[in-house]
Amino acid sequence: MTREGLFACVDARAGAVVAKSVNESAAARRQLDIADYAFVSPGGTVRPPGEARLGDGLLNRSGLAQVDLDSWLSVLSDGVAHGAPRGCPVLGSITLGDPSAAARIGHAMASVVPAVELNIGAPHGREASAVRQLTEADAVGEAVRVVRDAVEVPLFVKLPGQASDVVALARAARSAGADAIGLVGRYPGFLPDLDGGAVLGSWGAWSSPGCLPMSLYWVGKTRLALGEDVPLIGTNGARTAADVRRFLASGASAVEVVTALWVEGPGVIGELVAGLEGLDLAEFVGSALAGAREYAEIPPVSPPAWLPYTAHWPRPSAR
Ligand SMILES: Cc1cc2nc3c(=O)[nH]c(=O)nc-3n(C[C@H](O)[C@H](O)[C@H](O)COP(=O)(O)O)c2cc1C
Repeated sequence: MTREGLFACVDARAGAVVAKSVNESAAARRQLDIADYAFVSPGGTVRPPGEARLGDGLLNRSGLAQVDLDSWLSVLSDGVAHGAPRGCPVLGSITLGDPSAAARIGHAMASVVPAVELNIGAPHGREASAVRQLTEADAVGEAVRVVRDAVEVPLFVKLPGQASDVVALARAARSAGADAIGLVGRYPGFLPDLDGGAVLGSWGAWSSPGCLPMSLYWVGKTRLALGEDVPLIGTNGARTAADVRRFLASGASAVEVVTALWVEGPGVIGELVAGLEGLDLAEFVGSALAGAREYAEIPPVSPPAWLPYTAHWPRPSAR
């Protein structure tokens, strides 16, 4: 959200940096005034940001960059100028409010950045009307078409994971002109504090390492359905180099990371990138999908895999 932040990610050798999202709405900018963050350990301990660990989940309210568009374009422009000679594209991002306003912002951004990401998957859209989460294919197609027509650089579209058919959303976004598809946004979340209230005192957005397989599911399904010519950007749940590799093996050509960056600082980017050393990416991307059969193709498991569990239950007489 700041020049310094963009520069730090470039200097940490990110493959590309997507800047904080903006949109046309003053109400969306004000959301930042009520933003709050709670990290949750695997055992359920709630920790403030300064004490977060990499394996924690993150429940939060979020906002958008709190600057006017001209000032924001100037930040982006500085980011692009810093990234370009270092081989790191810096991109603009819009969180959808009104599609025609997103088109206007995207058009302005395209004069500064080499590509724009449009986020139509933010779970905050369920709680605040200033941003929108689209979960129906028709609505996705319509919004993407409006923005696509106005943006003269590649347009990436980030989808929600909470639709009955995320592949249908990806197909609609692609048909409407998306150059790459981001899969998937974070989830809505709620956590009672068991003291009569709720963590953060509200509903929120949630992600955790446990969300990784849910993201990988839609990456893999979309790769199979849309084919290898449609570039996919995996996101939501990558904290380690192994997680990044799992996104790639599921069919993503790039991986977006936020929470790990918050917890570990920009240095984590170098570790994630180093974890890809020696990979033949052309071969590795999508390589796990050969091992993903349909249920109907699986022969009976013999002996039944559930048997060992019940075999260890105590008999009633032994209780
Ligand atoms: C604190 C926070 C702020 C975020 N802000 C934005 C945003 O402004 N625009 C956007 O498209 N996605 C935003 N995201 C979503 C991420 O870009 C991404 O889709 C996802 O959170 C990455 O998963 P990870 O946090 O597990 O790495 C945000 C995520 C977090 C955790």
